[in-house]
Amino acid sequence: MPPPSDVQTQPIIAFAGVSKVYPARNESAEVVALHDIDLQVPQGAIVGVIGKSGAGKSTLIRLINGLERPSRGSVLVNGTDVTALGERDLREARRSIGMIFQHFNLLSSRTAFENIALPLEIAGVAKSEIAGIVGPLLAMVGLSDKRDRYPAELSGGQKQRVGIARALATKPKVLLSDEATSALDPETTDQILSLLKTINAELKLTIVFITHEMSVVKKLADRVAVLEGGRIVEQGTTFEVFANPRHETTKRFVGSITGGNVPEWLRAKLKPERLAGDSAVLHVGFTGRGAGQPVLSRLARNFGIDVNILHGQVETIASHPFGSLFISVAADPEVLGKVIAELKAGQNTVEHLGYVA
Ligand SMILES: Nc1ncnc2c1ncn2[C@@H]1O[C@H](COP(=O)(O)OP(=O)(O)OP(=O)(O)O)[C@@H](O)[C@H]1O
Ligand SMILES: [Mg+2]
Repeated sequence: MPPPSDVQTQPIIAFAGVSKVYPARNESAEVVALHDIDLQVPQGAIVGVIGKSGAGKSTLIRLINGLERPSRGSVLVNGTDVTALGERDLREARRSIGMIFQHFNLLSSRTAFENIALPLEIAGVAKSEIAGIVGPLLAMVGLSDKRDRYPAELSGGQKQRVGIARALATKPKVLLSDEATSALDPETTDQILSLLKTINAELKLTIVFITHEMSVVKKLADRVAVLEGGRIVEQGTTFEVFANPRHETTKRFVGSITGGNVPEWLRAKLKPERLAGDSAVLHVGFTGRGAGQPVLSRLARNFGIDVNILHGQVETIASHPFGSLFISVAADPEVLGKVIAELKAGQNTVEHLGYVA
């Protein structure tokens, strides 16, 4: 896939022709975890990598901080090819790359303060300076009052805040997140996502995060790459990908949050043939252009027909309204043709699914 056209400045992370093969061991065959990945992350961007379990997401992110080495290709971070570094230079390079994890990976024998201080101690920062760095970090993540608490005394969201502060301690340029909200409830997830957005804006920190949830991509990412079977099958701005998903996998991910998938109860009622008195069922996709207009009430008025919303949602993503609705239209075949033409003229996508009684 060619690099997206909206990437103008020098990217802070650039994958070029990267493949990763885990060699065969004992009974298990070799695994090609990534195939020929080209990915560019613009400075200051928040990029989401989404894919199903086993798609290669963690492998991809671990290549950025050198926890894995590629079998082919190069990974440039901030102009340095991390795949060519020796252990010592790699340790140095990792200070500019922070990482947060699904299960937080805190040391249970250390307080919040001491966990955040750990990377500074490892980097050889003088004890006298450490408090001056950790204090403001605790404040930034909203945990000043928990500085002397141990992980067992903190909630999941608070533990992840400690994880974020620890990742920021060495003033990284890039923050990597491997399913950092997957173990949290929806409300706590939202709080952590807003914290990450704030950090991105205030510290101009580039964020690459992986997730299997499209709702997280929607809330956090300004760009997204879809990984399937070790390949990037689709990438672009979050809006482009949501508004016009091309690959089947992307369509399913997008459908999972925009109501684009036919709900079971409706599928069960749908009939392929029309009987007298039946209503036609249409799936209308709003792609950021037609949405926002009072399309449905206009239809009802112009054609003198009943239009009912059965399912779906229209919402705002990256400042563009879009989404999808399932509607029933009580109209005979001739009028139905005109209704569909009118919906399409408003640049919506329209699919005629069948009929309901
Ligand atoms: N160290 C390893 N040795 C051998 N195979 C591995 C290793 N790590 C990952 N794999 C394999 O590589 C493929 C990609 O794994 P990866 O962990 O990158 O997927 P993922 O997208 O992060 O999945 P999940 O959502 O389950 O975390 C999988 O088939 C996995 O079994
Ligand atoms: Mg993983």
